[in-house]
Amino acid sequence: MNIPHHPEVTLAPRPVRESQSEMAEIVLPNDANPLNALLGGRLMHWIDLAGALAAHRHSRNYVVTASIDHLDFLVPVRVGDLIILRSSVNRAFRTSMEIGVKVWVENYIAASRQHVSSAYLTFVAIDRHGRNLPVPPVIPESDEEKRRYEDAARRREIRQAERSRRETQAAPR
Ligand SMILES: CC(C)(COP(=O)(O)OP(=O)(O)OC[C@H]1O[C@@H](n2cnc3c(N)ncnc32)[C@H](O)[C@@H]1OP(=O)(O)O)[C@@H](O)C(=O)NCCC(=O)NCCS
Repeated sequence: MNIPHHPEVTLAPRPVRESQSEMAEIVLPNDANPLNALLGGRLMHWIDLAGALAAHRHSRNYVVTASIDHLDFLVPVRVGDLIILRSSVNRAFRTSMEIGVKVWVENYIAASRQHVSSAYLTFVAIDRHGRNLPVPPVIPESDEEKRRYEDAARRREIRQAERSRRETQAAPR
């Protein structure tokens, strides 16, 4: 796709910390199944929103979710638990960004915290007409940010290879 020139978009590189985001949700009965356990779909929705926060802040534009990688739910979450979601830009490419979201459940009565899930999402920046827009590079500063930055390039290669494989399979013979 051609990338239109948008003078209002600033492409100066930005550190990861500038767009790092945190979201908190208390699990209510409407978020749960009849056994009072959080629905996986509800958590996926929150992961998407938490990821979009960092993507919006980094790109300073509208974004759409292009993909969500594999998701595991490691521990059950109950009604009344507090869910904490942290998101950050692992790497920005041309118009897309890989965002990492890590989720914990906090039981404030027992003062305990457990890792619930981690996800990698790809968001694409778009304008109000739905045209893709370039995004600024991200500057990883800490050792962990640098590791995520390197890993994100490898994951992108895997995603691209997988997409090409699917497109080849879907092509009419
Ligand atoms: C995602 C979307 C914007 C891609 O646009 P496109 O013009 O088809 O894609 P292009 O081939 O030009 O790729 C644009 C970028 O998206 C990335 N991309 C496209 N599909 C992707 C996918 N399935 N997973 C990860 N990245 C993807 C490309 O790698 C590229 O990144 P880059 O510019 O940083 O190199 C488009 O498919 C779309 O609008 N999808 C619907 C999104 C939506 O509505 N999401 C909400 C959930 S329904």
